[in-house]
Amino acid sequence: MGNSNSSNNHTTLHPSQAHYSPSCKHIQRYLINDGWCKKCTMKSVNSGHRGLDKLILRTQKKSTSWTDPFLEWIPFEHFRDVCKIDEGGFGIVYRATWTQGSRQERSRDGKIKSQRTRTGPITVTLKCIKNSQEMSDDYLKRLKSYYKTSLVQSRKRMQQLLKFYGISKDPTTGEYIIVTQYTEHGSLRTLFYSDFPSFRWTEKSWWLCDIASNLLTLHKEGIVHGNIHSGNILQIGELTRETTSTLADTGLNFPASTLNYNIERDVYGVLPYLAPEVIMGNALSKESDVFSIGILMIEMSTGIPPFSHRPHDEQLALEICQGLRPELAQGTPKVYADLARKCCSTDPSSRPTTKDLLYIFNSWWSIMNSDDPDNLQVRNSFLKADLLIPDIMEKRNSIVKDEQAIFKSRLIQFQDVFEKRNTNYSLQSEPTNSVKFSLLDLNLPNITIGFD
Ligand SMILES: Nc1ncnc2c1ncn2[C@@H]1O[C@H](COP(=O)(O)OP(=O)(O)OP(=O)(O)O)[C@@H](O)[C@H]1O
Ligand SMILES: [Mg+2]
Repeated sequence: MGNSNSSNNHTTLHPSQAHYSPSCKHIQRYLINDGWCKKCTMKSVNSGHRGLDKLILRTQKKSTSWTDPFLEWIPFEHFRDVCKIDEGGFGIVYRATWTQGSRQERSRDGKIKSQRTRTGPITVTLKCIKNSQEMSDDYLKRLKSYYKTSLVQSRKRMQQLLKFYGISKDPTTGEYIIVTQYTEHGSLRTLFYSDFPSFRWTEKSWWLCDIASNLLTLHKEGIVHGNIHSGNILQIGELTRETTSTLADTGLNFPASTLNYNIERDVYGVLPYLAPEVIMGNALSKESDVFSIGILMIEMSTGIPPFSHRPHDEQLALEICQGLRPELAQGTPKVYADLARKCCSTDPSSRPTTKDLLYIFNSWWSIMNSDDPDNLQVRNSFLKADLLIPDIMEKRNSIVKDEQAIFKSRLIQFQDVFEKRNTNYSLQSEPTNSVKFSLLDLNLPNITIGFD
């Protein structure tokens, strides 16, 4: 990534200059609100990629006020203190300071009319998309869908979603950069890695509510996430225990370049979270997202990324298709273990829906946070499980991660699996899996959740 310049001129721009040029000639016609010229903002989009320009401009065209959530073209010189966090399957993630910061509205002391300004320096995440110089139309579509998912708000639960500020470009490599909100506590995986023993079941059920709520919002919009794993669940918030979980990278586990992929055949993802039918070549679906949630639930019980003790190779892919699942931690409450297994059913139609999951996670959270005598048994099972966390830690510390256990999304292409796909190989399912999921079997309290 190219060097950023901490003393560039943009850092010293007066807030009122940050969103229209001093030579703006559109004041009369286009000045939507005081201090913002939409036309000037649109004129400054210059990514060097026609499709990308179009995408950014379309979001701007639709906006009617300075604080509407449109995408911005952010010149790379507006970043300083760029520092690498991690490398994923399809991008390299950096933390940086955005010198101007995001758009905001500030009311002028006591006056009704507000002032359009910027926040000033804020920390953001730069995700540099590998080989994106010649970004394909397919990837552009995914980026557009990712932007859409950054906007959808759950009506009732009001969970926070990761803010998508705009696009930039690495001047050294010419690769495009997705600029989003920075989450201090990183992903659920990093949080578990550093602090697993401190989290009780009440917090985990809260995060599961967030995750299910986010996912339901996507599913209601007809969007499949397709890449749910603990590295893509980002924890938003200041205090570790009070963070909320948001789903990142919806649909972005895909090569950006126009070369080297076969959209019909290739499967991308993190192997242990992929549903068996997807490994066998079926399309991603709402049901395959639920399978990934089941694997995530198992990870939440153990604190160990799934199958981290063995290589993520074709043998594992075949065994997953034959019904192998990661083990739950000893002492995991039965209701929780049953639901996680149900999500991981081989038969997609036996899995609960995301709406079921949201309802159940919400119920558990309510049960854990009340002393309703009717649900004492479930409540006690979670409280008892909290006491077993030190034992889980002992097991967790004894696991040695295999070097070939890969938790970044990548092309899942194994010859054996591929051949079986072509020979009508049928997935093996356990007899219990053929039982359809029913909420009524769970005997849950009557609670109201925010979706009809
Ligand atoms: N907005 C963010 N704020 C803070 N940390 C982040 C942010 N986005 C990503 N990260 C961290 O960077 C890591 C790498 O992210 P990246 O998306 O490149 O790979 P991944 O999520 O592990 O795998 P995948 O390629 O499937 O998305 C994440 O696991 C997370 O810890
Ligand atoms: Mg990711």
